[in-house]
Amino acid sequence: MLEIRKLERHIGAEVQGVDISAPIDAETFKKLREALYAYAVLVFHNQGITDQQHVAFSEGFGPIEMTMESDPIGNGGPIGIISNVDEYGELIPAEDPRVLYTKGNSLWHSDGSFKSNPLRGSLLAAKVIPPEGGETEFASLCAAYESLPEEKKAELEGLVAEHSLANSRAQIAPNLMSEAFLKETPPANQALVRTISETGQKALLVGSYTTRIINWPTEKGKNLLKELLDWVTQPQFVYRHSWHVNDLLVYDNRCCLHRGLPWDRRKYKRILHRTTLAGEGPTLQ
Ligand SMILES: [Fe+2]
Repeated sequence: MLEIRKLERHIGAEVQGVDISAPIDAETFKKLREALYAYAVLVFHNQGITDQQHVAFSEGFGPIEMTMESDPIGNGGPIGIISNVDEYGELIPAEDPRVLYTKGNSLWHSDGSFKSNPLRGSLLAAKVIPPEGGETEFASLCAAYESLPEEKKAELEGLVAEHSLANSRAQIAPNLMSEAFLKETPPANQALVRTISETGQKALLVGSYTTRIINWPTEKGKNLLKELLDWVTQPQFVYRHSWHVNDLLVYDNRCCLHRGLPWDRRKYKRILHRTTLAGEGPTLQ
């Protein structure tokens, strides 16, 4: 029996009664998609799944998007591996560029918002989890927009922001991205406020990828983007997930930001597998 239990006031729900390793009927998938639109983050526990089962389950939420060819976590396949472990199963040194690159995940972001057709959602499966730290936090972009004062909503109407992956990684360390990867990920412009097609709700689209507001003086734009990010990430809009091995999380990138919290990378391994859901089209008409 499918059971859905709300986690925080504005975001997150825990789902029980589903075995992701087995085929799931259309009626159940419909309920899961509706739950995703309502809660932005769905948490499933005790799902020891293969990558193939992970991909099959992801497709129930919509078409999946392959990783980019030069993406250090994916190499063009359906699964992105977010990890601090090398191909021999050894910890990668904390100062290695591969680890520094994934440290970008510690900044608030919506996966793939730097793409002209931003990713709709993502599914993260926990394979190896540190005994302490390494939680993931999610912040509701819909509840944050809804609770803005009306005059602020009017001020944001029609604004466009530039999003850049290089900008986010530059906040961690210089030269983290290869020339090929930089070429594959040029900045993209996105509506600052977008409407979620299934619910009609509006959501802010901010985060560490944003660089500036188009047609605004640089500083003024940066200040607004910081003000909005501070607003979205207030505790009342946030769900913090403490991982267990075999947890699977589905999140709607249109309705939430997320970030990974630190852990002792010199001591503990952490491996997550991720699939992504393709966007429905550009946020700008
Ligand atoms: Fe992410």
